[in-house]
Amino acid sequence: MTLHKLFPTIVYSAALQRAGAAAFNRQLLKECRQLRHDDAAGRRWSTKNYPGGYTSYGSVHWLQRISPTFKTLQRKLERHVKAFADAVEWDLEGRELKMTDCWINIMPKHVVHGLHLHPLSTLSGTYYVHVPAGTPGIKFEDPRLDRFMAAPPRKSTARRETLPWGTFPAVPGQLLLFESWLRHEVVPNRIDAERVSVSFNYNWF
Ligand code: NI
Repeated sequence: MTLHKLFPTIVYSAALQRAGAAAFNRQLLKECRQLRHDDAAGRRWSTKNYPGGYTSYGSVHWLQRISPTFKTLQRKLERHVKAFADAVEWDLEGRELKMTDCWINIMPKHVVHGLHLHPLSTLSGTYYVHVPAGTPGIKFEDPRLDRFMAAPPRKSTARRETLPWGTFPAVPGQLLLFESWLRHEVVPNRIDAERVSVSFNYNWF
């Protein structure tokens, strides 16, 4: 008897760099807080779209073009993006995966980021800059969920790969990559401290 597993959903996790993450994150964190201070349009956008938190998604979403620090992040991400593309065996037909957007997310207590995907993108991901103990990770949803119909629930002891969702903790210095169609959310932050992350999109056309 053989059990075959078809259609895997691949999520890539790795340390951004082998050493020096703490110093790099200190610089990123400083710039993230400075941007929140300077970016009135982004704070207004966040009031409507990310209540209680701050994101530069609606205002400054090409940080790799305006900050040398974020440009460095882009460069450090290159080998990971290539490794992901190899793992999912994409045939990019000679084209390059290019970073189109790079923005920051500051999530204080009670802030939530509801289920969403990243339309018009190929590959998305997040890098964790500042993660106080107890702040939430990221939760991915099984992309087949709307077809489950009479499928029974899974046992409480079920392996993660058979569950209809999977959660990854946010770890400073670590990054996650996933295909942009994979729906995800960040559950409410219950800790009285800010969680800071950088998100990004790549496109191959
Ligand atoms: Ni997202």
